[in-house]
Parts: sequence; structure tokens; C-alpha cells
Amino acid sequence: MKEQMQDTWAVPERVREGSPNPIADFDGFLRARHAAEVDPDGFWLGQTHRLLSWRTAPTVGLDGGYHTVKDGPFSWFADGTLNVTESCLDANLESRGDKTAILWEGDEPGDVRRISYRELHGEVCKAANALRELGVQKGERVIIYMGMVPEAAIAMLACARIGAIHSVVFGGFSAEALRDRVRDCGAELIVTQDEGLRAGRTVGLKSTVDAALEGEQGVRRVLVYRRTGGEVAWNPDRDVWWHESVGKQSPECPAEIVEAEHPLFILYTSGSTGRPKGVLHTSGGYLTWVTYTFRTVFDLRDDDVFACMADIGWITGHSYIVYGPLANGATSLMFESTPVYPDAGRYWDMVQRLGITIIYTAPTAIRALAAQGDDFVQKYDRSSLRILGTVGEPINPDAWKWYYDVVGEGRCTIVDTWWQTETGGMLISPIAPATPVRPGSATFALPGVAPALLEPETGRVLHGPAEGHLVMTRPWPGQARTVYGDHERYVSTYFSTWPGVYFTGDGCRRDAEGYHWITGRIDDVINVSGHRMGTAEFEAALIAHDAVAEAAVVGYPHDLKGQGVYAYLVLQPGHEASAGLEKALNGVVREIIGAVAKVDIFQFVPGLPKTRSGKVMRRILRKVAEGRGDQLGDTSTLADPSVVDAIREGARV
Ligand code: PRX
Repeated sequence: MKEQMQDTWAVPERVREGSPNPIADFDGFLRARHAAEVDPDGFWLGQTHRLLSWRTAPTVGLDGGYHTVKDGPFSWFADGTLNVTESCLDANLESRGDKTAILWEGDEPGDVRRISYRELHGEVCKAANALRELGVQKGERVIIYMGMVPEAAIAMLACARIGAIHSVVFGGFSAEALRDRVRDCGAELIVTQDEGLRAGRTVGLKSTVDAALEGEQGVRRVLVYRRTGGEVAWNPDRDVWWHESVGKQSPECPAEIVEAEHPLFILYTSGSTGRPKGVLHTSGGYLTWVTYTFRTVFDLRDDDVFACMADIGWITGHSYIVYGPLANGATSLMFESTPVYPDAGRYWDMVQRLGITIIYTAPTAIRALAAQGDDFVQKYDRSSLRILGTVGEPINPDAWKWYYDVVGEGRCTIVDTWWQTETGGMLISPIAPATPVRPGSATFALPGVAPALLEPETGRVLHGPAEGHLVMTRPWPGQARTVYGDHERYVSTYFSTWPGVYFTGDGCRRDAEGYHWITGRIDDVINVSGHRMGTAEFEAALIAHDAVAEAAVVGYPHDLKGQGVYAYLVLQPGHEASAGLEKALNGVVREIIGAVAKVDIFQFVPGLPKTRSGKVMRRILRKVAEGRGDQLGDTSTLADPSVVDAIREGARV
């Protein structure tokens, strides 16, 4: 069954046979790629007319581009009008009203809710009417701070229904991080729930919202979904129960028709510097992108049961739990729990019980499950599975092979999908029935995506097999248009390192056959278990503690998490390193950033390696944290080379 040539795995028969999609083999892929290259506007207009419900079909494709981005955002389909929920909901009513749209599995195994397209349409309309009644208007911002309950997706779609802009904040972020985002986007209303439930434990969500809003004036209403029935504080002037406010509404709500470039959502993500940025995605282009990539990469079939294990607080959840699957009329799983609750068999138990055909998860989860042994997998029937997806970080070949051989038993293909919050959806990825795969490679750019590798020192475009900075040379419909409220920051972050192209922040190697191998971030972003965090955010949190004079944080290779967090700290006089201090420092990190953030290794140093102009030489710190302190290269530009010896000697790797 498994055909293996050198290091290339051919597409298994079971994945190839019966593909209903235009790209069903490698020739089909090459044809689509060629068509999108010679006439991008024609190609994408054709796709969007076919895939979306437009009220006014667009006649123009791309307007502007990277050369004009300084003057303002480029646009796609600018003369079209639509409401994205009509593609996700109304368009499915007649043909598949009774089909399950959202298949929810709660924290406890077997606690299942099936919401049909008809029911989802009604629930979204009710929630949209409630938002309107609570005063939310087109263009206003709504923050969603929830766990993995269907109401979170319903709230997102309800915002879209009335033309409001949602910003989902991951439930693992702290009150302080939430407050920053509330302020940055000027939210009018927050949707939350009493408590979240994960692995048998409750997590206060309403209480975190209360703490975030203390002393804040902007948010007028907090809409609270009751999940656990746990006790919550109540502000009757501000707080409203979901079941009271949404429950009484009509299940019909006319959609607010907006222009293609009307903002759909803001999602905050970390970068090299400063605070998280509010990446802004718009309606027509984003929906076209996630609809096209979802059906193409996963080779969607009518009876697929699609299970993306991400949280909707991240872009993966937005694009491939909510918008992409629903716009294609698919059945999409929402999973409240973790892969190891009650034990490491949870995913495979769900595959057997729910008939999952496509699973989409992160390398971290795959590595963690592989470490628990094969028995947890093998005791469940996985014959329904056809496609195994991965996203969020580079997957090491060992984990890839375990996924392929043990989980998929050689019958399924793996799609290693490379993309980012800013890209809206996948850019470099196998197309399940068409692309022979290589373990650890995201393979080729999708049709209409134009990557290039630049030589890091010169910016020269590299041809043939090479390694360099990964950039995109042409906009695609799903690309983020701006940073909310700060277009200059968008331009300087993505378009100033290399003028005229989009800089991804990733390094990449291309082999002789054109396969892409992402080597990881080359900026000061760390990727812990697929969670993207800025070193600057950690540093700001650490120096908020009285004991810390200076902090520099870098990533280092971590067997399970991909990357771990390594902090170098200079203490204030009178303070001493201790386990107690490390604990306290992680307490501050947790308070300022949230439960997702934790320093793995602290090293207390007499000074940081700085150039004479005072810039911290992070290259040196990275090498030491990687255990390569003996390969520091040239350190002659340091103001005080002796600190390097102390750092090397005290290394904790
Ligand atoms: O470094 C790349 C890594 O995740 C970064 C984007 O993070 P975020 O915006 O949080 O989006 C994650 C989900 C799309 C990228 O710059 N990354 C994502 N997918 C892959 C990956 N690295 C290697 N292989 C992938 N398949």
C-alpha cells in the first residue's frame, strides 16, 4: 500500500480515488497553478463566483499591490457586495439544512451536540438580533472571550451577520492581556461565558472579564453564556445572560450587506517588537481564500467529518473550524477538551465514535501523543480516517512518520500546511489527492501563491535549491489588509525588511525538486507548542518584577513543545537567584500575558552581551541556549566581551 520512493511518499490509493474536485492529481495541480499565474484576477474571480454567495458579484480582482501599500491597503473584489454568513449559512439551507454543521464534543467523552445548518442559521440570527438590541452597530468591535463552545462560533457569525467586527481573544490570556486588546480595538461589547471547562477543571472566564474591565469605561455590555452554572459576580447595569437575551429573539435576521473590503475580524498576534498587533481581515477576499483552500487541500467530500483540534482563539480555528468548513457546507468538529483527557486515546476514541475522516492538529500534540505509546491509538478503529493535517510549527520527520504509520496505517496522506495569522489561510501545502509528500516538508505553494527565497545578506532572489528568507511576491485574496488602527505598523512590519514583497518572518529551504522546508522564525518570535509569542512580551513582563534589572528572552529547541522559552536576567542589587524567585517571575508572566506563557529556563547573568551602541546581541544568547556556546563566531563588537564567558559557564542547557 505504502509506496515510498527515496524520501517521497506517493498519495495512497484511498486518498486518490473518487476525488470530486478539480485538483485531483498532480497534473490538475500544475494546470491550476499555471492558470492562476497567467491570469490571477480571472482565476480568483472565477473561484469566488463559483464558491461564494455574492449579492453583487465582483468584476475586479486585485486593486493596488505591494508597491502601493504605503499609501493604503490593496483590495480584492472591491465592487462586490455580500454578507459572509449568507455563504456559510443561508446558502446551505436548501441543499443541506438537516446536515450537521457543528459537531460539538464537550470536555467529557461522549458529551455530544449536533447542530444542523438550519439550527445554526436560527441560532446565529437570534444572537445577531440580540447584539443589535444591545446596541451593537455595523463596524463596531465585539470581543469574544470564551472556551470551545458552539456559542463562540455563533457569536462570531452573529457579528458578521450585522457587519460588526469580532475579535476573539484566546481564553488562556490574562485579564491584563484582555484589557490591552479591549482598549486597542475600542470594543463596545464582550461575549463571554461563566466558566470554561477543560480536563475536568473549571476556568474562570467571566471573572477575568470583570478584572479586565475594572475602571474601564468603553465596554457597555457583557453578554454571558452559561456553561457550567458556576457562581459569577454580576453587574446588572452591564451584564446580560445569553439565554435571556438571545433566547427570546426571532430566528430570522436580515443580513447586513457589506462591501467586499468591509472588515470581518481583528485577531491579535505577536511580532518581534512591542505589543501584539491587531491583524485585520476583510470579508470577500478572506472568505474566498479559506473556502478555496479548505476544499482543495482537504479534497472535501460530502460525507466528510472534519476535525480541527485548534482553539477558535487562534487563526486556525477561525479559518478551519468556522469559516472555511461552513462556507463549504461541511461538518466541522468543535472540541472542548484536550488530547490527553481522560487519557491519550481521546482523539482516536472520537475518530471511532464520530466517524472523523479528516483530522487537523499541531505537531506538539502529535509528539505528545507519540510519547505515550501506540496502544492508545491502536485500541480504536481509525478506518474512517483519510487525511491527516498538521499546522503551526515545523513537524520533525519522526513525528511525521508516527502520524503516517501508526495513526494512518499508511492509508492516509499527510498535509503539512504552512501559513500564518496574516495569511488568512494556507499558502504552502500539499493538496491531498495530488501531491506526493516528503516528511517535514510543506511541499509546494498553492495556486495563486508566489513565494520566493531571498539571500539574507543581500535580498537577492535565490533560484534552484537554496535556503533564505521566505517572502511572497504578490498579494492573494486572503492576505491581511492592515494592522487595526496602525497601517504604518503593518507597512513597517511586513514590507520594510525587503521592499516590494511580503516578509513572512520565516526561513525556508527549497530542495532540488522544489519542495519547501520551513526552518522556523528568523525574527524574535517564539513558537511554543504552536502558540506564537514575542520575546519582547516576555521581556516586558519579566522586568515588571522588582528584582529584575534587565531581561533578554530567546527560544531554544524543545523536544515536545518545538521551542521552549529561555530567559537571561540581570537582577537588581540586593536580589538573589532562587527557585522561589523563578516561581514568582513565572507568576508575573502568567498575570501579564496569561496561562499560555511560561519561562522554561532562567539563567541569571551579570550582564547582557551588548554592542557598544547598547544593542543586545541576541545571536549569542540564542547560540548559548541551543547548547552551541562554543560556536559564537565574532564577538569583537561587544562592549564587554567578558560577560560572554560568564553566560557560557552558567548555561543551563
Ligand atoms: O513559523 C511559522 C509557523 O507558525 C507561524 C505562524 O504562526 P501563527 O500566525 O500563530 O499561525 C499559526 C497557524 C497557521 C509561521 O510563521 N508555522 C505555521 N505552520 C507551519 C509553521 N512552521 C512550519 N510548518 C508549518 N506547517
